[in-house]
Amino acid sequence: MSLTNFRTSDAPAPATFPALQQKKHSGQPITALTAYDHATARLVDEAGIDLILVGDSLAQVVLGYDTTLPVTVDEMLHHTRAVRRAVRRAIVAADMPFGSYHGSVDEGVVNAIRFIKEAGAQAVKIEGGASRAELVERLTTAEIPVIGHLGLTPQSVHRMGGYKVQGKSAAAIGALLHDAHTLESAGAVLLVLEGMPREAAARLTAEVGIPTIGIGAGPDCDGQILVFHDLVNLTFSTPAKFVRQYGDAAALFRTALENYRRDVEERAFPSDAESYHLPKDAAAALERA
Ligand code: KIV
Repeated sequence: MSLTNFRTSDAPAPATFPALQQKKHSGQPITALTAYDHATARLVDEAGIDLILVGDSLAQVVLGYDTTLPVTVDEMLHHTRAVRRAVRRAIVAADMPFGSYHGSVDEGVVNAIRFIKEAGAQAVKIEGGASRAELVERLTTAEIPVIGHLGLTPQSVHRMGGYKVQGKSAAAIGALLHDAHTLESAGAVLLVLEGMPREAAARLTAEVGIPTIGIGAGPDCDGQILVFHDLVNLTFSTPAKFVRQYGDAAALFRTALENYRRDVEERAFPSDAESYHLPKDAAAALERA
């Protein structure tokens, strides 16, 4: 048996980082979304999205924390596995949670390997700029594709003094450019640009060779990413300026749930057609008993 399986079917080609790089070169937008569980990851993949990020935003939108800081490596692994089992085409990337790479580069490498080996992720994302260069280099040497994350980095919420748009001056944009170039030189395959002026993201996108994926960074990035729960109105909070809601799952679920409760209370559910029945002879025997 050959160790290499070349594609022979007509199934859509799996998304790859070289394919995303090609999209940047040909000016084709890259699509990305977060997902945290099997059902939604399946829907995202079937919609033809290029990259699925198991984001640490799951701390907030799935686990109900106020920030992304409390989520653990084991919790992220658990959700990454569920997503992995659902996805056929998209790239599955996992967020390295706060504390999993901040202590030392060695610890970051060990934790990143867990996401690839134990959860089937194809890449990891880490927040931060030039200070992460050594970690990016080590992961790249270990054959792990790394996605950088610049601008509003939620794991730095306390240092930033809240969730604030970053890169609002020429000097701040200069620092972001330095970070972006340093991460690219260290081997990063993609950069997420979050919460920065459109002009800053456009400049970064034009200057780096690797694709940029924006969230709250305007339309000039090489691609866009949103949090799944924002897109379908499942966050129970006022959406940020950059969010566009493409559906109202809260309304859909609420109606379904209220209708279910009413039907049960009125004995309208289940109907006879939704019930199992005894075979005729067993029903007759029951009547006689
Ligand atoms: O955790 C997350 O959802 C993210 C996206 C905002 C890119 O990092």
